[in-house]
Amino acid sequence: MNILILGGGGREHALAWAVMQNPKCDKLIVAPGNAGIALIAECARLDIEDGGAVAEFAGENNIDLIVVGPEAPLAAGVADDLRGAGFLVFGPSAAAARLEASKAFTKEICAAVGAPTAGYGHFTDAASAKAYLAGQSMPIVVKADGLAAGKGVIIAETLTEAEATIDDMFAGAFGGAGAEVVIEEFMQGEEASFFVLVDGADVLPIGTAQDHKRVGDGDTGPNTGGMGAYSPAPVLDEATAQKALDEIVKPTMAEMARRGTPYQGVLYAGLMIQDGQPRLVEYNVRFGDPECQVLMMRLGAQAMDLMHACAEGRLAEAKVNWADDHAMTVVLAATGYPGAYKKGTRIGGLEALPETSSQMMFHAGTTSTDGQTVATGGRVLNATARGATLQEARDRAYDLARSVDWPEGFYRKDIGWRALS
Ligand code: AMP
Ligand code: GLY
Repeated sequence: MNILILGGGGREHALAWAVMQNPKCDKLIVAPGNAGIALIAECARLDIEDGGAVAEFAGENNIDLIVVGPEAPLAAGVADDLRGAGFLVFGPSAAAARLEASKAFTKEICAAVGAPTAGYGHFTDAASAKAYLAGQSMPIVVKADGLAAGKGVIIAETLTEAEATIDDMFAGAFGGAGAEVVIEEFMQGEEASFFVLVDGADVLPIGTAQDHKRVGDGDTGPNTGGMGAYSPAPVLDEATAQKALDEIVKPTMAEMARRGTPYQGVLYAGLMIQDGQPRLVEYNVRFGDPECQVLMMRLGAQAMDLMHACAEGRLAEAKVNWADDHAMTVVLAATGYPGAYKKGTRIGGLEALPETSSQMMFHAGTTSTDGQTVATGGRVLNATARGATLQEARDRAYDLARSVDWPEGFYRKDIGWRALS
């Protein structure tokens, strides 16, 4: 099979790495890819939010399956365009991608099916949003409705802060994403991520993970896209995962199908768990980044068969071969991230790293200039490893992280602390 993966981050490097291990893969192209992906696959320059351009490229390259990594092309309808052009695609339609692209839409679906989630209000003007605050207790969560690259969620500790956030959002602090605002009850508990494949009808769980969103050790400092992750998530035990499936994921998927917008692809349910009861925080319509890195490390080559079965609507007959293992990824980021940081700094020591089926340095934001790997983003490398225990996975991941020679980078030293303590 000839496979095209859209995206160029650590998530896509991990997907490419898993796909390349599968003997059914004849050719792999990643667009746009990065310096790490270029070592294992062909990279192509392509506007991945332009469905027509992707379809033309896929036709020229005899592509049999297209895997869409990030949410932006999905929300832009690239999967629709590609399916319309006759390609097999792993990734939801724009209509189904609203589960990530509109927080108000997701809350409305949850209400329609009775899925446990935070109480909320949905507003299109500042005055009514502020009026709603009167009856609420603090902290409270204020969210820009649309896609805001993970930045559109503010947990306000005081009424003054909540009101100021509402004003900012309606004043355009998050662009069009903040033209509508959702205000939510603050949920207590422990967060975990639950990943399932959905082919419109059947739902197949493929793993759980927990990430660390704060930039600093001890889960301090500003929020980031994720500074590390591990799988499985101990808090999402079998009984809790089953509840999440029965009360949240399956009813949502059935409702999407009933409305004529069936979901196809990976669904990432962000859950808040308290006393064994999961509640939905959010859906994402793609793999998490860096959660994908630990999932791929554990699934390996079968990930390609599972995505293929999902795209072809054959999940009813698909099975995941579970190993009793653990994986961890540690994100190496540019100093200053998630604030301002330098670009173009040189990274050394990558050539000497061991790269095996249980230890991989995935690239997230790199490019190759004159044979030298340089950092191009905030989150730059993902030191990822697998082990029989989480401790073993952790030791291997940190061995990789320590071996990198990048004075302008940093990483958290305590990924997995909650699960290991
Ligand atoms: P979201 O983009 O909706 O996932 O929000 C980003 C982060 O904000 C989540 O991962 C949670 O840590 C936090 N968060 C969002 N909504 C809530 C809520 N209702 N209660 C508590 N924390 C929340
Ligand atoms: N790591 C969180 C996300 O991918 O949304």
